[in-house]
Amino acid sequence: MTPEMARRRIETLRAEIAEHDYRYYVLDAPTWTDAEYDRHWQELQELEREFPQWDRPDSPTRRVGGAPRSDLVSVRHDQPMLSLDKVVDQAGLRHFDRRLHERLGLPADFALTYVGEPKIDGLALSLLYEDQVLVRAATRGDGVMGEEVTANVRTIRSIPLRLRPGSRPHRLEVRGEAYLPRGAFAALNRELEAEGIRGFVNARNAAAGSLRQLDPRITASRPLAFSAYGVGQLTEAGLPDGQDALLAWLREAGFPVSPEIRRLEGMEACWRYFEQLNERRDALPFEADGVVFKLNDRMGQERAGSVARAPRWAVALKFESEETETTVEQIEFQVGRTGILTPVAQVTPVFVGGARVAHASLHNVSEMHRKDVRVGDRVILRRAGEVIPEIVRTVMAESGSRALPVPEPTHCPACGSPVERDLGGILIRCSGGLHCPAQKKEAIRHFASREALNIQGLGEKRIDQLVRADWVRNPADLFALEVDRLAGLERMGKRSAEKLIAAIQASRNTTLARFLYALGIREVGATTAELLAHALGSLEAVQEAGLDELCAISGIGPIIGHHIHAFFDDPGNRDVIGRLREAGITWSSPAPQLPASGSRFAGASLVLTGRLTTMTREEAISAIRSLGGVVSSQVSAKTRYLVVGENPGSKLDDARRLGTEIVTETEFRDWIGFPPETSGPHLQ
Ligand code: IVH
Repeated sequence: MTPEMARRRIETLRAEIAEHDYRYYVLDAPTWTDAEYDRHWQELQELEREFPQWDRPDSPTRRVGGAPRSDLVSVRHDQPMLSLDKVVDQAGLRHFDRRLHERLGLPADFALTYVGEPKIDGLALSLLYEDQVLVRAATRGDGVMGEEVTANVRTIRSIPLRLRPGSRPHRLEVRGEAYLPRGAFAALNRELEAEGIRGFVNARNAAAGSLRQLDPRITASRPLAFSAYGVGQLTEAGLPDGQDALLAWLREAGFPVSPEIRRLEGMEACWRYFEQLNERRDALPFEADGVVFKLNDRMGQERAGSVARAPRWAVALKFESEETETTVEQIEFQVGRTGILTPVAQVTPVFVGGARVAHASLHNVSEMHRKDVRVGDRVILRRAGEVIPEIVRTVMAESGSRALPVPEPTHCPACGSPVERDLGGILIRCSGGLHCPAQKKEAIRHFASREALNIQGLGEKRIDQLVRADWVRNPADLFALEVDRLAGLERMGKRSAEKLIAAIQASRNTTLARFLYALGIREVGATTAELLAHALGSLEAVQEAGLDELCAISGIGPIIGHHIHAFFDDPGNRDVIGRLREAGITWSSPAPQLPASGSRFAGASLVLTGRLTTMTREEAISAIRSLGGVVSSQVSAKTRYLVVGENPGSKLDDARRLGTEIVTETEFRDWIGFPPETSGPHLQ
């Protein structure tokens, strides 16, 4: 074969392969079988080997990945790659639309035409074509400077190495999202984990990790996809006037464009589009974290312009998600009623799981170490349903130094007492007891809580004031408060002081079980308190009971027994109890509670699974029992309801299989007449 004949054959093969790729990846309508494809490919490879003079950067054979490099090179974007303003609800979307109307000087009732596009969760790419050929690909980076990844991008089969024939600008910069399709992402993580390598936390990290590789052969082994959504240089003559026409033009030029994209007239249509996509989001072949709305008209886009780093003519409406990324700003330790120090991360506020979150729990020091969460880390934060937001894990930065791990406190942050380890080192606890202001406050909050003495109007802020003024050191001090003194407190008039005193006085009439619970004995929840009251009948009997007597009560084991015994052995506690009795706290002898026959729980069997976050398990069980229900440990055909808390176990699967009614913690709270939980300690 002469070199000239070879050149012609090579060109034909390249064009045919490119056409096939286009049909396969863009039109989703392949014409060749795999065998035909391989045959053409092999023929091309052999000819190129024999005639290296016809080598070209846009040959499909370049897609297998070239030689590895030693580092990624920074490049400057001719036009900055902007980011998008985000909104999280319909009100935010309407606000965006109103502002755009104002800016364009249009009457409010004029329906603007938008293009709705899925916001694919991947990595933004800039693809530069000169004289039809892909000459440079870069990541977005910080929007001004990106990283050059041309060799890696060539391995993405759906990205044309050469534009399809037609009238094309001399220089064209296409922008879009590179991503790993849902299935490919899951398969990649399975593969990595089988090799003992930690998988990617989400599809976006997987796409970024696959593209920002020094060895293009690794990128080639990852089935990355691409979806075009715009053109970098909008001033280029000859481009269509609307976003919808631009996308059609891009598709014609050879680029995959999402089939989900729609032209939408007015806000109603935009909202419907969002809702429909949101409903189908788990069935989409890519991960999407929202929808992008773009003003269709290019003239309008130019008139609206951009602010800082985002255009005024486009907005991202995010799907509600249970997980998001944020940054840890601080890690502090909160002291609970029993002195346990809980590490809580203060994070850059984010909207997740339908709420704004600024704090997230790290549960305990051992969890904090296991997850190795540090100040400054980017982390995945999860808030599902009613659950207290938690940090799932740190997203490892590929470079850059991290802060040192937060040291475990040796002293209580509230009172300075040394800490003690508990539960084999999992927990740390302040040894200050009721000398510790944080424990004091928590003890009083517990004493006044609804399930205990139920003192109306004694909220966190009031308790804080009272403890800070040193008027209240323990629950007994509440009963010595006087109206005149109280009225002198900030934000407290005479009337509210009177009301509070009246509520404190009214709380004196209670039950033995509530009183025992209110004392805040370790491990004694409402159910155990009830057991004690029923079994022993009087406070004196509980106070005098020996360890053996306590452990003989069904439901009380040696650990709880020990805590009860130790509590009443403590002279300080005995003193407080004496003062409380003197203050006039009374109860009639405990009568067994009768099942309320009308309740939905009467005679019903319930099972609890997972950790309840707004009440203790004992409280839940006690509430079910007092409403006539029975609590079982296993889900069976007889189970009426399964109450689901955080991290439910296999019981949830059993319930689903058996068709048992599943009840969330919120619903459950509502059924048992607990007030809705509006703000936990970690929520804002
Ligand atoms: S347009 C002119 N359209 O979202 C506005 N961005 O927050 C520039 N993204 O960096 C972006 N799908 O990674 C646009 N259909 C879409 C998108 C999209 C995903 C990403 C992209 C960008 C980020 C902006």
